[in-house]
Amino acid sequence: MPAEDVLVIGLGYVGLPLAVQAARAGFRVTGYDTRAEITAGLMAGRSHVDDVTDAEVAGMVAQGFRAVTDETRLGGHDVIVICVPTPLTVADGPDLSAVRAATDTAGRLLRPGTLVSLESTTYPGTTEEVVRPLLEKASGQSAGLGFSLAFSPERIDPGNPEFGFANTPKIVGGVTPACTDAAASFYGRICDQVVRAKSAREAEMAKLLENTYRHVNIALVNEMAIFCRELDVDLWDAIRCAATKPFGFQPFYPGPGVGGHCIPIDPNYLSYKVRTLGYPFRFVELAQEINGRMPRYVTERAAELLNRHAQPLNGARVLLLGVTYKRDIADQRESPARPIARKLRGRGAAVAYHDPYVPDWQVDGQAVPRAEDLEAAVAAADLVILLQSHQGYDPARIARTARLMLDTRGVVPAAPHVETL
Ligand SMILES: NC(=O)c1ccc[n+]([C@@H]2O[C@H](COP(=O)([O-])OP(=O)(O)OC[C@H]3O[C@@H](n4cnc5c(N)ncnc54)[C@H](O)[C@@H]3O)[C@@H](O)[C@H]2O)c1
Repeated sequence: MPAEDVLVIGLGYVGLPLAVQAARAGFRVTGYDTRAEITAGLMAGRSHVDDVTDAEVAGMVAQGFRAVTDETRLGGHDVIVICVPTPLTVADGPDLSAVRAATDTAGRLLRPGTLVSLESTTYPGTTEEVVRPLLEKASGQSAGLGFSLAFSPERIDPGNPEFGFANTPKIVGGVTPACTDAAASFYGRICDQVVRAKSAREAEMAKLLENTYRHVNIALVNEMAIFCRELDVDLWDAIRCAATKPFGFQPFYPGPGVGGHCIPIDPNYLSYKVRTLGYPFRFVELAQEINGRMPRYVTERAAELLNRHAQPLNGARVLLLGVTYKRDIADQRESPARPIARKLRGRGAAVAYHDPYVPDWQVDGQAVPRAEDLEAAVAAADLVILLQSHQGYDPARIARTARLMLDTRGVVPAAPHVETL
């Protein structure tokens, strides 16, 4: 398929790396985003996404990339990729309003042969049941005949130095076999390996299976961390030993809670869909409950540790190290650091934070003081809680300086004044 013009709708964590990769592969790329500050920043050569550098954006702009907010500036395109957010509603149901709006935009731009690919994570059936009718109504054409429609989940692992867009296999599933072919042909030009799903529904489910698998396994070790402490077992050491098994085991590690979009949010899409069948998806709901309780557990452990050293949490100076949801990135979405700071403050602690990736940080609209000098801040704190083990940190050195330390990442050997989750 001679696809030369690519339109990316939604230029965030998913859309921007895709736009960069398509431009690199020689496509003429246009980006459309409803937020003017994003498109203006990109046109000025500034990236707002961890995995994309300013130089990559500037290079793409120099090659002819345009980022626009005004829909009337968009023309016809060979390929339209939808990468808009899929948050949850207040009732924890899927909020597909951005997907619908982006599909309406795509519908107005369809021309014969256009491929529309949905990359937003969503419940199985969305491409077929929500996106397809909107596009068919807008174009008066049928999917698979007048245009192609497929789902292709984004599997980006922010901050992963080994696997990026090009060398992570790309799953594609069309609403018809011809649509799968069209999607495979496009993605085959921008990444190393394409995996064909039986249809869009299996492609949608594959993404949710991957996320749920992580969610459930993290919940398993988080629950084990809580009782292992009471059983006087070092779970971290047990995981290290188990991980030497060359088959049948993949290590997951306890932590202060789960963040980002993929793990805390996306599996809800699947449990929502399962509930429409009249019964719950118990694994997801249990994982949600266990992982969601971790910030409370961390706060309790902080209070206990201080108490053992004859100090109340109320009035204690607590320094949080690393407030992003993942190490070595700036993304704070759903970071467990936020509920931890909220709970610590609620119990009277004076909370400050240090994070090389976060210049300022607010919790519930109230600024949390930022420590500029790590060494001095660690020395001044009554308790240091290591939440994210960014590469720039030297945990052993921090532990030597800290009066008391709670290590939620299992990177510091235990000592009388240092506890691990
Ligand atoms: N971030 C990740 O690591 C990741 C990984 C895999 C899948 N996903 C999924 O990909 C989707 C996008 O996630 P993201 O992290 O890129 O979100 P994001 O918030 O970083 O970016 C989405 C962008 O879409 C724009 N937008 C919203 N509505 C629009 C519309 N109608 N038209 C044009 N632009 C619009 C927003 O302004 C925003 O810039 C979600 O469904 C998410 O679950 C994300």
